[in-house]
Amino acid sequence: MSETASSQIDNVMHEDRLFPPSREFATRARIGSAEQYQEIYERAKNDPHGFWDEIAKNELHWFEPYTSVLEGETTNVKWFAGGKTNLAYNCLDANIAAGHGDRIALIWEGEPGDQRTLTYTELHTEVCKFANALKKLGVGVGDVVSIYMPMTPEIAIAMLACVRIGAVHSVIFAGFSAEAIADRNHDASAKVQLTSDGLWRRGKCIPLKETVDKALEKSPTVEHCIVLKRCENECNMQEGRDHWWHELVQSASEDCPATPLDSETTSFILYTSGSTGKPKGIRHTTAGYNIWTKKTFEWVFDYRDEDIYWCTADCGWITGHSYIVYGPLSAGATCLMYEGAPNHPAEDRFWELVEKYKVTILYTAPTAIRAFVKWGDEHVDKHDLSSLRLLGTVGEGINPDTWIWYHEKIGGGRCPIVDTWWQTETGGIMLSPLPGATATKPGSCTQPLPGVVPVIVDETLTPVERNNGGMLCISQPWPGMLRGIWGDEERFKRQYWETFPGNYLTGDNARLDDDGYYWIMGRIDDVINVSGHRLSTIEVESALVSHPNVAECAAVGRPHEIKGQAIAVFVTIKDAEPTDELRDDLRRHVRKEIGALAVPDDIRFTEAVPKTRSGKIMRRLLRDIAAGHEATGDTSTLEDFSVLAKLRESDEQ
Ligand code: WTA
Repeated sequence: MSETASSQIDNVMHEDRLFPPSREFATRARIGSAEQYQEIYERAKNDPHGFWDEIAKNELHWFEPYTSVLEGETTNVKWFAGGKTNLAYNCLDANIAAGHGDRIALIWEGEPGDQRTLTYTELHTEVCKFANALKKLGVGVGDVVSIYMPMTPEIAIAMLACVRIGAVHSVIFAGFSAEAIADRNHDASAKVQLTSDGLWRRGKCIPLKETVDKALEKSPTVEHCIVLKRCENECNMQEGRDHWWHELVQSASEDCPATPLDSETTSFILYTSGSTGKPKGIRHTTAGYNIWTKKTFEWVFDYRDEDIYWCTADCGWITGHSYIVYGPLSAGATCLMYEGAPNHPAEDRFWELVEKYKVTILYTAPTAIRAFVKWGDEHVDKHDLSSLRLLGTVGEGINPDTWIWYHEKIGGGRCPIVDTWWQTETGGIMLSPLPGATATKPGSCTQPLPGVVPVIVDETLTPVERNNGGMLCISQPWPGMLRGIWGDEERFKRQYWETFPGNYLTGDNARLDDDGYYWIMGRIDDVINVSGHRLSTIEVESALVSHPNVAECAAVGRPHEIKGQAIAVFVTIKDAEPTDELRDDLRRHVRKEIGALAVPDDIRFTEAVPKTRSGKIMRRLLRDIAAGHEATGDTSTLEDFSVLAKLRESDEQ
């Protein structure tokens, strides 16, 4: 078990505060009591066919009805086979048909303060025009469109336009490097690249097109690049390959009927880190993903027509896919979208936005909350946050003290908090309180949603006793589950399905307490969580060893006040001196290879990376050293951990 895992357990063991749902919430909620939750949960578990049939039949539009609800298992599951539907249709046309065309779908604010709102009808028009522009460039069913864009409405328009015509989007977070984009484009055989002249971040224009130009030198499959004007930033436009977004849509027709797509059609791929160096393209489908994001959004956020919902994630991550675009829009919600940083122009930007737009539901990440705590209450106190009625968190565990601050300072003690556990692979929320039904405990993601059947097992695959930690697995298929890793079915099987045959392996450790509440205890593999973003230590190591002065290296996570975990690397160098210049150069190198989010906080030069006799890196020792549990001495010279390593060798094995 990792350090973080064990310290988290210590923490949670002492946590016995309970926050029952308020009467006000319970009386209005879709699921309004623990008994009602239990009843729905049991029905979904015991009769998944009947349960999901009733929901899917009524809540998605079917161009052709499905012939079966669920077929197959584990690696060959099919949900709603034989049916034809369309994600963009369910997000747009269905809402318009229900009379909600004039309802605001997106309220957007850019970092410089520019604003836009789009009703469902307006969003529909923009999506149709852009879909026609894509079609004109030859994009059709199954073609991969790589998206590297700012958080403007166009990123949502682009995603919806793709799924409208059956193209597969691969959104790449706009903080990744040219190398990372090229790797993903290559793996996905992307045909078209979408980007912008830049994005605004802390008052500066980040020139995305420059990065894309470098990526496209190594992306031979990309035929066209569409560039959105955002910053009026000069950029190179390659004749024949590059097109301005506004010019393409100017001449595009507004008429673009949604293509009826088989339920199991791939809707998108999203690259995420696993326990090896190569990111994997998680593959999601159409109908199952659609119903899962819609229902989980409704259950967990208990969305009402008058709500203003704000998810602060970026569309470059799964949270942005499922809970900015597909879930909320298919539920007909009004969503706030913000382009920039939480501390620009000042540390109260989020609270200014909550006050200005009267946000009622706020969904954000623990790392952001920790930053707010650090920045000080005065930034919060400047604003009226009384519109808020529900708060959510995602991406990593939340420490109970941070939870309490969020509850009291942001939620004024009146807003329930939904701590939602899920993954890129699960498509949507899996474990979470229901705000009208679940009494919450700070630090616990509480209970499984209807349709989710978790099991916690030890190394011998035996279910563990209550209060014992073990590997969290999911034992029944659910509609939003991933259907594969793009181009690598073997890895898909190996990674998720072989450890505990018949069950999905989440990669997380968890514990169930006496009340049947789940506590996530961190990863079982070498994935680290930096500011709620997944990175594999091996990815960082691979980037570093590609530097000419690096002989060998090991990357580990260490606790960090704001980011949750920071990356610490131990590097053995060759043909160089252990200087700060070399440290800077290594940081630049990682930034170039992966992106700013993977840049190590600590770089320590060592005589040798300590290993066991069998040659395994002694990660636990390194984690301890990185966390400051061991004496280290002067970090400007080569550190020698060999003595410590020998002392520790016996307990590493
Ligand atoms: C972690 C993000 C504790 C977990 C939606 C998971 C969490 C990984 C929580 C997935 C939570 C996410 N409590 N840990 N509420 N939510 N995690 O794919 O380790 O970016 O496996 O999806 O984040 O990260 P991903």
